[in-house]
Amino acid sequence: MGIARPRGTNDFLPSETAKWQVIEAMLRQICYEFGYGEIRTPIFEETELFARGVGSTTDIVQKEMYTFTDQGERSLTLRPENTAGVVRAYIENKLAAQTQPVKLFYIGPMFRYERPQAGRFRQFHQFGIELFGSSSPFADAEVIGLAWEFYNRLGVRGLELHINSVGCPACRPAYRASLQDFLRPRFNELCDSCKSRFEKNPLRILDCKSPVCKEICQGAPAMAENLCEECAGHFEAVKIALDAAGIPYQIDHNLVRGLDYYTKTAFEILAAGIGAQSAVCGGGRYDGLAEELGAPPTPAVGFALGMERIFTVLAAQGEDIEVEDTLDVFIATTPGNSGVNEAAFALNMELRRAGIRSEQDLLGRSMKAQFKYADKTGARYVIVIGEEELASGQAQLRDMQDSSQSLLSLKEIRKYLLER
Ligand code: HAM
Repeated sequence: MGIARPRGTNDFLPSETAKWQVIEAMLRQICYEFGYGEIRTPIFEETELFARGVGSTTDIVQKEMYTFTDQGERSLTLRPENTAGVVRAYIENKLAAQTQPVKLFYIGPMFRYERPQAGRFRQFHQFGIELFGSSSPFADAEVIGLAWEFYNRLGVRGLELHINSVGCPACRPAYRASLQDFLRPRFNELCDSCKSRFEKNPLRILDCKSPVCKEICQGAPAMAENLCEECAGHFEAVKIALDAAGIPYQIDHNLVRGLDYYTKTAFEILAAGIGAQSAVCGGGRYDGLAEELGAPPTPAVGFALGMERIFTVLAAQGEDIEVEDTLDVFIATTPGNSGVNEAAFALNMELRRAGIRSEQDLLGRSMKAQFKYADKTGARYVIVIGEEELASGQAQLRDMQDSSQSLLSLKEIRKYLLER
């Protein structure tokens, strides 16, 4: 065995990338309908961006970043997510000066040094959107609505939309303290990660997967019930907007996202039956992030969804993406004859120029083997060019659907196919 791909990464072959193209086309169409334009940012950024943006106490920053020093002694990191990068680009390109709101989407690879398992990779792909410049609850609802619309169009069944509010700097400190008071008597029973979260980020304890921590958290005060007036009103308005559009949701008091930048709305879409990695999508509002990165306060909300997880969910539900990849025309040539291949090549190029999907034999195969190949590709027509026919400027056109065959001039064949 030679060199293998790095652990937690994938090679996607044409049969799979064709399906990715279908999904990406759907996402681009939805973004077009919702008014989002594509942004492409670098795959690596200054490490500082993620430390400040995602949060220095998060698992992502503490354990999962691919950080390296380049030849110029700069500390760079392969992006573990793209919200921080998009906010950086929003600030750097002065998008605040453009007509508001600014609505952006992205599709691309992200990198996290996680323990690989079903649905969890070290290089994975996200589609995400970020909406800047609006603090309206309808902006939150639009972002959630876009994600919901996508999975509905895809026909995924049994998805659950979980929402919560994680408050803001005005109401979170008091809640944080009351959560610590609630947990303190059983501090010693918490798992090691949660012990270290207790001071740094106690809200994260609420979504710990350890059964003991889960049990300890039962009956804990809920953030959504301890919000300041503004956050409470905002959360209420988001729910009313979702109700109005018939988007079903569940309030999940333990939903605390693994990134530090969220304020007010946090949400995830979960799929049953795909194992531990059931979150297909996650996002929320992050009104403080731009300021954290040195810009004036900028309200913002967005989400990202895992592209690989789309396929995991579809497979679990016995669904697949239909890809149209049959050949229109195969040009068979009698092997070894002078002039025949050249005529086939000239015709082939002409058909392709007209948008017809066509191929000719490139392996010097027998006529029988060429027909077998044409069959395999699902070619609708086979053109047979032989030396004798060619001498009179003709070829056989075989319709593979009804097996009819006619001897026509190359000109007539061209005309016939172009009219189809
Ligand atoms: P996140 O929850 O870390 O949020 O990731 C979003 C989605 O990416 C997850 O729900 C999951 O489907 C997918 N995902 C995450 N890690 C992996 C992995 N290792 N392998 C496969 N799929 C994965 C964010 O990244 C935020 N930037 C979302 C956001 C945008 N919030 C506001 N705007």
